Amino acid sequence: AKAVTIPALHAMRAAGNKITMLTCYDASFASLMDRCGVDMLLVGDSLGMVCAGHSSTLPVTLADMVYHTASVARGNKNALLVADVPFGSYATKETAFESAAALMRAGAQMVKIEGGAWLAETVAFLAERGIPVCAHIGLTPQFVHQLGGFKVQGKTQEGAERLKNDALALQAAGAAIVLLEAVPAQLGKETTELLAVPTIGIGAGPDCSGQVLVMHDMLGVFPGHKAKFVKNFMEGQASIEGAVRAYVGGVKDGSFPAQEHCF
Ligand code: KIV
Ligand code: NA
Repeated sequence: AKAVTIPALHAMRAAGNKITMLTCYDASFASLMDRCGVDMLLVGDSLGMVCAGHSSTLPVTLADMVYHTASVARGNKNALLVADVPFGSYATKETAFESAAALMRAGAQMVKIEGGAWLAETVAFLAERGIPVCAHIGLTPQFVHQLGGFKVQGKTQEGAERLKNDALALQAAGAAIVLLEAVPAQLGKETTELLAVPTIGIGAGPDCSGQVLVMHDMLGVFPGHKAKFVKNFMEGQASIEGAVRAYVGGVKDGSFPAQEHCF
């Protein structure tokens, strides 16, 4: 296997080969996922919920993210490693750079930041300084209190237009990829077609350039609410490795996400 790079992701998009991503928080799962050919590992701030038991991602600190990113980096060989910039650590473009640089020193190869067009200046500041950025739009969990819950976004005409404008602004600022969370499948398709960079969807329909799931969700071990877009890939599998391979296969052959997983 070859190391996954940003140009490789762009080539996959161009060739119509779906990109696979899973969240990962430790070295052992990183090694397993890498062996199964997962293209990208995301050290998500969802670790605050699935690992630490918080009810949102807000309590997660930069130190938490650095610790888990370094752990995942030790287990990974070829997957592109992305780390979340946590809540409260990117209030200005300068603090965003310091936070992102700490994650890159820990082994991240790209950082993910939640926010729309207002974040474009920060994305440009990072990209110009050697930090590839994945822009996360749609349902942005760090904004749960402003959104009034973990709710589908972009359902109105106005919301859909705003999301597409955000995506374009972030791409123009230099975002390497755009992650779309919990938006109608039609909007996921339109946004993907509008952009030149790859999109990664979670609850954003089958037409994104790739898909991501939280590992605890796709292994059926998260005790919380099961979102509509989640599929338990342990069903019919005898091992975790089998489930991860089934996820990779399902994304690659377009069978996941199915209609039942879409808004
Ligand atoms: O933290 C996370 O797991 C994420 C994914 C849901 C995209 O940001
Ligand atoms: Na996240």
